[in-house]
Amino acid sequence: MAGIETIALDRWAGPFPSAEQSGALAALERGDVLFFPNLGFALDDTMRGLLSPVFGDGAAKNISFDPASGMLRGTRAAGAERERLVAMMAAFAAAAAGFVAGLLPGYAAALERARTSYRPVEIAGRVYSPLKDDTRLHVDAFPSTPTRGRRILRLFSNINPTGVPRRWQIGEPFAEFAAQFAPKLGRPHPAAARLLAAVGVTRGRRSAYDQLMLRLHDGAKRDLAYQQRAPRIDFAFPAGSSWVCYTDQVLHAALAGQFALEQTFYLDVAAMADPASSPLRQLERLTGRQLS
Ligand code: SIN
Ligand code: FE
Repeated sequence: MAGIETIALDRWAGPFPSAEQSGALAALERGDVLFFPNLGFALDDTMRGLLSPVFGDGAAKNISFDPASGMLRGTRAAGAERERLVAMMAAFAAAAAGFVAGLLPGYAAALERARTSYRPVEIAGRVYSPLKDDTRLHVDAFPSTPTRGRRILRLFSNINPTGVPRRWQIGEPFAEFAAQFAPKLGRPHPAAARLLAAVGVTRGRRSAYDQLMLRLHDGAKRDLAYQQRAPRIDFAFPAGSSWVCYTDQVLHAALAGQFALEQTFYLDVAAMADPASSPLRQLERLTGRQLS
């Protein structure tokens, strides 16, 4: 089973002790979730006023902010409310980026800050199609955003104001998961990848790696037998805590909870301390093919 590494840090800005830094790096790369029970993202009064699902758009799971383009999506908020949402997400993004760079200094130069999300909708009881259903165990792979092997590192904070935890399940190690699905992975289709890029479905071309990761994501979510029998642990992230993991590697399912902030980062495999532990290199070993 993937593990939980509990780290007692309680502030977003470094410097951090080197024992915490090296422990965090090793745990993260072996596929554990780093859990920070004392690292809460403090909300001011303006931010507390944004704690309601009415700020969503009724359709998207999350409100997302893209720091590169300044685009805010998934909300019907306008005017001053929209500005407050952007301000809250930008403040969280800055705190998250500072924290990750301070905790994982070996990553800092190579880390790309990607989307920030705010998740104001209760997970339990939401109804989605199987592939969008994050209550099923999965590794993250996004159809519209190929990574071509880069890692997806995410930091979550539970900002629930009434003490409600965010309940996850965490599954087996990536190697064991991928080995079971290997017969279903098949060969990637270069022509399909070119077509999707040409018609604008994907931002940049899907590599062979992206195609296999999507097959793993979709294969796991669609496989009801796997969903029922796969080993897992339950873990409740308390309100006022934060956690970090490679969601392209850690099998996870989010079962319940409301009000979280999340920051995504991308990282080149070459910037890892142990690139061989990446899904890219693991899948290359499993399939005997070069995938990047
Ligand atoms: C997910 O990445 O599957 C959802 C995690 C969450 O919202 O807690
Ligand atoms: Fe996910």
